[in-house]
Amino acid sequence: MRLELRCVGKRFGDNHALRDITLSIPDFQSLAVIGPSGGGKTTLLRILAGLTPPDAGEIVIDGRALEFSEAALLAHRRAVGTVFQAYNLFPHLSARENVLLPLVRAHGVPPREAGAIADALFERFHLARHAGQRPAELSGGQQQRVAIVRAIAIRPRFFVLDEPTSALDPEMTAEVLDLIAELRREGRDLVIATHNMGFAREVSDRCLFIADGQALEEGPSRETLAQPRHPLLAAFLARALRYSICECLDHEEHGGRGERQEP
Ligand SMILES: Nc1ncnc2c1ncn2[C@@H]1O[C@H](COP(=O)(O)OP(=O)(O)O)[C@@H](O)[C@H]1O
Ligand SMILES: [Mg+2]
Repeated sequence: MRLELRCVGKRFGDNHALRDITLSIPDFQSLAVIGPSGGGKTTLLRILAGLTPPDAGEIVIDGRALEFSEAALLAHRRAVGTVFQAYNLFPHLSARENVLLPLVRAHGVPPREAGAIADALFERFHLARHAGQRPAELSGGQQQRVAIVRAIAIRPRFFVLDEPTSALDPEMTAEVLDLIAELRREGRDLVIATHNMGFAREVSDRCLFIADGQALEEGPSRETLAQPRHPLLAAFLARALRYSICECLDHEEHGGRGERQEP
């Protein structure tokens, strides 16, 4: 997909969550949005998903400008597969019902057909034996996988995933990231905010660094993460790597022993 932002701004009271962001990202399949907490990642993703209109500016996705009328936003929201940090699922419904409900209610798919779609996806993503369970009976990783399956079920134009693993332990994180990597291999487009730099490097082709409401650097992931140009991105990556043993091992595996920045 292609993405263009022109002077996109969003304020909450006096707090500038996004400050006049202008950028143009050429054809990408997976965009990793990285940066410190409070930098504006979620705000940007919510705007791309049609959940929040910006105060100013223009957003063009695949050559088409996003419209901000209620009706247009609703239509856009329905065409995007969104997965947010946690608490995505309806607690009183089973996993299967969580996938079915939006298909039937928001997308007008006949219940029988929706059931077949849900069953096929649960089968494919090894969740079939959990279909009847409620979220509270599932692990965090299973819940997030159900949330992703729910997003897949609607056949979205693209996915918006906001730190989908931030509430998970490392093993569950790997489960969920594997599933997202599979979406990418299938050729689906996605924008993902993540703190997992290994994932950003290995799975995303482009990387966008946002801090203090500004888009400070954007480029091909491997290059951008290996040779950051903006000093704030260099500092952010050094901090992110400091306690990340997997990242260190990864670097050594890839022969990059000398490249790692010392904290
Ligand atoms: N609904 C909201 N009301 C008030 N302030 C908000 C709201 N959402 C975000 N903010 C503020 O906007 C800034 C950017 O937040 P956010 O987009 O959540 O950043 P990130 O996802 O990078 O942590 C922060 O200062 C945050 O406190
Ligand atoms: Mg956030």
